[in-house]
Amino acid sequence: MKDFTGLLKAAAAARRHAYAPYSRFPVGAALQTAGGKIFTGCNIENVSFGLTVCAERVAVFTAVAAGQKELAALALVADTPEPPMPCGACRQVLHEFNPTIWIVCAGLNGKKRIFRLSELLPEAFTEF
Ligand code: THU
Repeated sequence: MKDFTGLLKAAAAARRHAYAPYSRFPVGAALQTAGGKIFTGCNIENVSFGLTVCAERVAVFTAVAAGQKELAALALVADTPEPPMPCGACRQVLHEFNPTIWIVCAGLNGKKRIFRLSELLPEAFTEF
């Protein structure tokens, strides 16, 4: 398995930019492209709660908007006793670009879990 240390550091740094005045639950994400570039994201909340966007989706959209669609790994960091898991909506968005992307989940305490997206979103919706 790869060394995700740098990606986890980038996610932890991005978490510090979270805008989470309502939940007070800052989340950071960092995406690595196939070419080794890193794009980060944090959760951005809104007073109209449903408009909130998760850290993972901000990272994906930032990468894609920069012309990078080959996504290799996503790291996710929050201050939880057990590693935080990506929400269902973010799993589906990640699936769009790489159904087997590495997902690295880590607490600030250093606890870590590593998956392939295919483990977290089996039988995903793909065709209509
Ligand atoms: N959140 C994320 O950023 N990623 C997830 O995978 C789950 C939840 C954010 C959304 C909201 O700002 C806060 O965490 C509490 O749900």
